[in-house]
Amino acid sequence: MNFELSEEQTAVQLAARDFAQNELLPGVIERDTEQKFPVEQVRKMGELGFMGMMVDPVYNGGGMDTVSYALAMEEISKVDASAAVCMSVNNSLVCWGLEKFGTAEQKEKYLKRLAAGEVIGAFCLSEPEAGSDATSQRTTAEDKGEYYLLNGTKNWITNGKSASVYLVIAQTDATKRHKGINALIVERGMEGFIVGKKEDKMGIRGSDTHSLMFTDVKVPKKNRIGDDGFGFSFAMTTLNGGRIGIASQALGIAAGAYELALNYSKERKAFGKHLAEHQAIQFKLADMATKIDAARLLVWQAAYLKDQGKDFVKAAAMAKLYASQIAQEVTTEAVQIHGGYGYVKEFHVERLMRDAKITQIYEGTTEIQKMVISRELLR
Ligand code: CAA
Repeated sequence: MNFELSEEQTAVQLAARDFAQNELLPGVIERDTEQKFPVEQVRKMGELGFMGMMVDPVYNGGGMDTVSYALAMEEISKVDASAAVCMSVNNSLVCWGLEKFGTAEQKEKYLKRLAAGEVIGAFCLSEPEAGSDATSQRTTAEDKGEYYLLNGTKNWITNGKSASVYLVIAQTDATKRHKGINALIVERGMEGFIVGKKEDKMGIRGSDTHSLMFTDVKVPKKNRIGDDGFGFSFAMTTLNGGRIGIASQALGIAAGAYELALNYSKERKAFGKHLAEHQAIQFKLADMATKIDAARLLVWQAAYLKDQGKDFVKAAAMAKLYASQIAQEVTTEAVQIHGGYGYVKEFHVERLMRDAKITQIYEGTTEIQKMVISRELLR
């Protein structure tokens, strides 16, 4: 593997860094405090091509590789992890899945607008009683011939209120367990579909996380993704790629906190010299930087394997496992280096520390990543 980024990849990285500093940084604290979704900023992300980065230009995408996507996710997440999760879900869970498994008609109708960032997508797998245990879907999609009758509740759905296109995983034939599950494209405004309560979260407070309720929603058969019973495979395969996005998010949160701590340590004085001149702080910075570099190598490895068309399942789970773990450690140390200032909102690191935790929970908990990795090892 070549560790040198290409000219295109460097350009994407710089564009994302520029956007994050100029467009996301102003107002990020207010959006976190007020739990305000970055509507305007996400719209601009669409215009700049960040919402459908890997999609073929034929469908309005950027035609970029996964390494570029990981680089952009890292830069956006350094500043605003809430905008980043919106971007990650749209790119990896919605656009990627539709492009890979959708019909020509579905791509024309939905993917083009999603990839252009004209509309946002949501991925709806989790339920009140089916989080990690994803095969235990209670939402039902009864086969009625021309359409599926969708009933049930989904929980903790990222982009829950802002989305227009929802990929909903539901059980059609419980006797077949995971082989009786389907993935359906549900549109905002379909009769019987209600967006439920917004979650009051510890972190990523600028992202809108909602429950969704479906009561006798008639979803046309042509909105099913793949063959009958393909829904669970669809969800698992899509999540494999999604984990690269969330690993990049965790990496960005860690790198953002590290950069703030590094700069602060060069400005703040204690006991007559800058913090950076104290060995206790130098050792912390050395540990933080080493962990971030190790996480970045895992992320790039997973992205590279995916781009090469090679098996990346283990690598993606390892990247997410490790990056989310070090995001916890690095953000905690960044707060520690800032001392009392680290505990107040205006210095950003307390937010990054709160944001870091979710990366160990969504798109598969730490424990799920270990299950995925060990399954691959023992296969
Ligand atoms: N990739 C592809 N296929 C996979 C897979 C993977 N990583 N893991 C399992 N499968 C397939 C298996 O091969 C099997 O298919 P076959 O029978 O055809 O071979 C099928 O799935 C069932 O496998 P298991 O019997 O092993 O299933 P399980 O019940 O033991 O569960 C699991 C496996 C890995 C734990 C899975 O349930 C899982 O990944 N759970 C976590 C779900 C998750 O990540 N939820 C996050 C919600 S989405 C989200 O957070 C988005 C957001 O808003 C940010």
